[in-house]
Amino acid sequence: MYLDNAATSFPKPPDVCAEMDQWMRSNGAAYGRGPYTAAEASAAIVDRCRQQLAQLLGVPASRQIAFTLNCTDSLNLVLRGLLNPGDRVVTSPLEHNSVLRPLHQLQQEIGIRFEFVRCDPAAGQIDPGHLEQLLVAAPARLVVLTHASNVTGVVQPIRELTQMAHTHGALVLLDAAQTAGHFPLDMRQLGVDFLAAAGHKGLLGPLGTGILAIRGGREELIRPVRCGGTGTVSESLAQPDTMPEKFESGNLNLPGIVGLRAATAWLLEQTVERLEQQASGLTRQLHEGLSRIPGVELYPQHRRGPSVAIVSFNITGLDCREAAMILDQSFGIQCRAGLHCAPLTHRLLGTDVRGGTVRLSPGAFTTAADAETAIAAVSAIAASL
Ligand SMILES: Cc1ncc(COP(=O)(O)O)c(C=O)c1O
Repeated sequence: MYLDNAATSFPKPPDVCAEMDQWMRSNGAAYGRGPYTAAEASAAIVDRCRQQLAQLLGVPASRQIAFTLNCTDSLNLVLRGLLNPGDRVVTSPLEHNSVLRPLHQLQQEIGIRFEFVRCDPAAGQIDPGHLEQLLVAAPARLVVLTHASNVTGVVQPIRELTQMAHTHGALVLLDAAQTAGHFPLDMRQLGVDFLAAAGHKGLLGPLGTGILAIRGGREELIRPVRCGGTGTVSESLAQPDTMPEKFESGNLNLPGIVGLRAATAWLLEQTVERLEQQASGLTRQLHEGLSRIPGVELYPQHRRGPSVAIVSFNITGLDCREAAMILDQSFGIQCRAGLHCAPLTHRLLGTDVRGGTVRLSPGAFTTAADAETAIAAVSAIAASL
């Protein structure tokens, strides 16, 4: 039983594998590089994938979406392309290392500064009042926030926080790794300037796919980190300044995008709203079931606002990695344990001293019976201690 969908989703909708297999056997031509029929067929798939992503994520124009390697790549493209020496960034302790490490590296390399907004550890929520204080205290170039923590699953009030950032002249980069495809998301409505997401998590595409969506016109603010062939304006030595070519140098991952296109078609058909309802039922079931087991501690203890399908816990007296190993070896349940690349979240929750938490993350194909089996397994482990 696979309960590690927050890392990457599995299994994928059946058409994902079938269309990738079919494309690899029958086409294989690159995108945007030739006038022949197979290349045009590849281009049509890429364009359709962009359109479906725009529809799913509320991006006003599909050309404002660039394909990347993963969510980390998308975040790096913005952070490295936008920030200059002396720039001030406000972020949160709920961020993944894919935000924290580039910020730390840029601090070392070019002297950017970054500060953290306070969060309530009991609810896993950002404190909007403190964000306002930080933005009033000194100008910030950028606010970088995760839409949902990959440790607690708690969804942040991004629209309100973005309005605040914009009022004080800061741009907003949203890390939607844990929400794209999992939670209804409309970039227009949230108002963010940059949205980074993985293609291989809630969007149900294969590993090696990611996207960066940029609000119209904001691409002019970002230096391209990678320059090279785009198949367009080849007579010029300058990197094209237009979307999406500005951020798509070199051949695209066509097998991955073929899979992502099939996955997003499936998502549009199923609807994110329906899948989110199913996921929140499973999350509630897991949370309630685990909370009844003596010796199990949940983070956060009480779920109040919206959240995605992530349930983090510890069993008193047992190392979280050992618990995950027992779940795998004795019960056939695959899940993640440790710090989940989010060390400051664990410091906030007080779970850093325990080496992190066990994390169960159901996906689109997890059933209520699976959740019941997982609860029974944790109960058996706790009882055996
Ligand atoms: C909140 C968050 N941001 C970023 C990432 C990085 O995603 P990717 O593996 O696609 O680079 C993850 C992955 O777990 C994540 O949970």
